[in-house]
Amino acid sequence: MPVLLKESIGVQLVLGCQWGDEGKGKVVDLLGETSDLVIRYQGGANAGHTIKIKGEQFILHLIPSGILRSHTQCIIGNGVVIHPETLLKEISELEEKGIRVSGRLFISPNAHLILPYHLLLDKAFEGFSGNQKIGTTGRGIGPAYADKISRIGIRMGDLLDSNHLKEKVCGNVKVKNLILEKIYKTEGVNAQKVIDSLLHFGEKIRDCIVDTSWMVDQEIQKGKRILLEGAQGTLLDIDFGTYPYVTSSNTTVGGVLTGLGIGPRKIDRIVGILKAYTTRVGNGPFPTEFEASLGEHVRQMGAEYGATTGRPRRCGWFDGMIAQYAVRINDIDMLVITKLDVLDTLDEISICVGYRYKGKQLDYFPTECHILEELEPIYETLPGWKEQISNIRDFSDLPKNTQNYIKKIEKIVNRPIGIVSVGANRDATIWI
Ligand code: GDP
Ligand code: IMO
Ligand code: MG
Repeated sequence: MPVLLKESIGVQLVLGCQWGDEGKGKVVDLLGETSDLVIRYQGGANAGHTIKIKGEQFILHLIPSGILRSHTQCIIGNGVVIHPETLLKEISELEEKGIRVSGRLFISPNAHLILPYHLLLDKAFEGFSGNQKIGTTGRGIGPAYADKISRIGIRMGDLLDSNHLKEKVCGNVKVKNLILEKIYKTEGVNAQKVIDSLLHFGEKIRDCIVDTSWMVDQEIQKGKRILLEGAQGTLLDIDFGTYPYVTSSNTTVGGVLTGLGIGPRKIDRIVGILKAYTTRVGNGPFPTEFEASLGEHVRQMGAEYGATTGRPRRCGWFDGMIAQYAVRINDIDMLVITKLDVLDTLDEISICVGYRYKGKQLDYFPTECHILEELEPIYETLPGWKEQISNIRDFSDLPKNTQNYIKKIEKIVNRPIGIVSVGANRDATIWI
């Protein structure tokens, strides 16, 4: 098993092991230092990846976090769903901050577009769902992926042929407007406006469109170091997550293969990101969720508000059952623990080491929501360390109780922990 995390190797994958927001952006930025190509392969602007460099904060939704390293090239693979305005805004905001995007960003012609009717349908559907609402980010993700699977989606490559684009958009708008107006009793969209804005987007972005699967293969053959940036987290996976309270893509390891077009044997190392506690935005079961006052305390300490929607994140204890599940589903080689500093003030810290359901202990994480709602977490409680650790850079300098907490997690997941993050800034990092 590869162990030297700081030494980059061929193709490396970073993905979330919980319900997203584990700190993937920070880790991708760290590993970006020794990568040549950084790639997003699934999800869309529902993602919010935060990177903090010497106090300056960047939040990326669509462009890979590696863009902040000036030597990298970045790819948005076919598995991503792209909202044109968000992408253009993100590019111009980065360029305004002196980060060159032009000539460094490549996008698959097969990546699907998120159009105004997808956002309207996302919001309308949530509005109609009452207490079965998922609590989506409202970014049109589900409806865009639904069109992809229904084979009526509009893709980046369609932007290059205006007649064909117009025909497809008009056909889609007709049907979507019927649904919006007749079923949801809300306003539809104007086809011509949608087409005009897509043509404008196409003009701006046409030079970025390349066959990214072929490009990546070429780069791998040249021995370039590739970093794959997952969005969301294992429990938000459409197949392996807490369905239906999930996102609409495969956030687990398989998403790379279908969302980029490389073979499984090309991936040399899989790095899983675990927050030192658990958070979740949106609805759905959460076995280790804190009671209100502890939840509020940790939310404040960890600034747990969504990077995309600003919603308060629900917080809870570290869940070893989830961590083991993520390690198994993704075949993770190595883990990163983030936001350990957030626990500095706690007297005692609990870790969930098992689940009891109807009087019996479960062997593994169940994804069925009705079971997750009912089961009882089994906790082990460790003493807190009650001191500030954000300035520590060496594992051996961490308080003994902090070291014990990390060792306990390592024992549960049965994989090495390669990095411990003790602050949002790039340098607040302990390499083990
Ligand atoms: P992502 O979606 O997985 O990239 O994570 P987000 O960016 O949505 O959320 C993680 C938040 O925690 C961001 O605000 C980061 O700046 C911050 N963060 C990352 N690592 C640490 C850490 O070790 N300590 C603290 N206090 N904050 C961190
Ligand atoms: P990053 O990449 C946390 C959640 C939403 C909702 C569910 C479905 O920053 O970790 P969607 O808009 O995708 O249809 O919403 O998924 N969700 C995320 N939660 N981090 C994310 O991304 C998320 N992307 C989606 O809150 O519960
Ligand atoms: Mg996030």
